[in-house]
Amino acid sequence: MLIRRLAAEERLTTSFPLQAYAFEASPLSGERVEAFHRYLPYNRGNRTLVVEEDGETQAAASAIPMRQNLRGRVLPMAGVAGVATHPLARRRGHVRALLHQLLDEMRDEGHQLTALHPFRAGFYERFGYVGLPRTRTVRFSPADLDPLLRAELPGEVTWERIGAGYAGYRAFTECCVRERHGFAIFPEFRAVGLRDRDDRWLVTARIDGTTMGALTYRIDDDGELLGDDLLTTDPYARALLLQFLARHVDQVDRISLQVPADELPELWLTDLAVHVEARVSRSGSLAPMARLLALDTLAGLPAGPGRVRVELVGDRWLAGNHLLDGTTGQLELAAGGPAPSATLTAAGLSALAYGVLDPVEVDVRGLGSIGPDAAAELRRLFPRALPYLFADF
Ligand SMILES: CC(C)(COP(=O)(O)OP(=O)(O)OC[C@H]1O[C@@H](n2cnc3c(N)ncnc32)[C@H](O)[C@@H]1OP(=O)(O)O)[C@@H](O)C(=O)NCCC(=O)NCCS
Repeated sequence: MLIRRLAAEERLTTSFPLQAYAFEASPLSGERVEAFHRYLPYNRGNRTLVVEEDGETQAAASAIPMRQNLRGRVLPMAGVAGVATHPLARRRGHVRALLHQLLDEMRDEGHQLTALHPFRAGFYERFGYVGLPRTRTVRFSPADLDPLLRAELPGEVTWERIGAGYAGYRAFTECCVRERHGFAIFPEFRAVGLRDRDDRWLVTARIDGTTMGALTYRIDDDGELLGDDLLTTDPYARALLLQFLARHVDQVDRISLQVPADELPELWLTDLAVHVEARVSRSGSLAPMARLLALDTLAGLPAGPGRVRVELVGDRWLAGNHLLDGTTGQLELAAGGPAPSATLTAAGLSALAYGVLDPVEVDVRGLGSIGPDAAAELRRLFPRALPYLFADF
């Protein structure tokens, strides 16, 4: 099996058609094939590997060099996308080989984390990934925001097309990645696609001249205002953005927004009739997944006062017997030593590091073997946290 890294332009005739076959309606129109050229620059800095046989592309997988916040530290993260095998070449181990090499290379370049949006969670759990919370879709009528119209709020709102406001929006996402656990952003070469498509409005909330909230959205011809992620770092900023939405009462019937899993829209206002939904199916609509690619990612992270020795099992990148010690308030690691009191798979350790599962849940789900004492230590070391991935790729 020959695995090769593609040069940028080669994508047009190799990985793009394969991915289009896997993810789009096909056969493709000539117009769609032409659109590959427009999409090419936003893939420029990705690493795309293909499996070739007799000069034909059999399988492809790409990694986007992104950044993600893990418990307060911003780290290089490999965003995996475009994983596809030709139907005649499926189930022959191509994607397994591609993912191994792709993640080997990304890890060697310093990417300590990786995340993706899976087609089926079980497929990627074997590669050590664990589920992260899915964003919630919130739906309500602008009429229910009426009380906000009369509210006196500090700060101001600006409104423009994303094409014009992109730089400010991008700067605000840079601020979010520094502040919010789990938050991930694209490299600039990919992020500018939002500016160039220019198919969204942007509303920004500023308080004392500092951006503290932003929402991109569009309005369809069925009377719905379709918001993307409601990004706020301050409750006044959220109120300013909702007040702006309230002004659409005579224009749209419904508003939808995406919010992180810890946002509670039912508490935004009295008498707000609101529907909050996170839909997950076995295939199609799924929560994102992520994993650690290197154990030293954890060194120095803020940690609770737990101390436990674990053995990492069943993984290509995380292995061995390690002491995890949080008694100084920062995680310290030491390899080797006496028998461990728990075993963890890569998905199990990743679940604890991202804060998405309790040690007992890790054990129940078969992502490790953890007795009550080790569970208590691990729970202290890795307090629950709710990551918010944000980037959609
Ligand atoms: C899903 C897909 C990428 C798998 O590629 P592949 O080259 O056939 O995968 P591999 O042969 O390397 O299989 C790797 C492992 O996953 C398993 N696997 C393969 N397809 C699977 C599926 N659909 N569901 C669950 N497990 C699957 C294989 O049995 C194998 O397990 P093993 O190593 O324990 O034997 C390919 O079928 C495809 O292109 N599908 C359509 C596009 C798609 O859904 N892409 C995923 C986007 S994230």
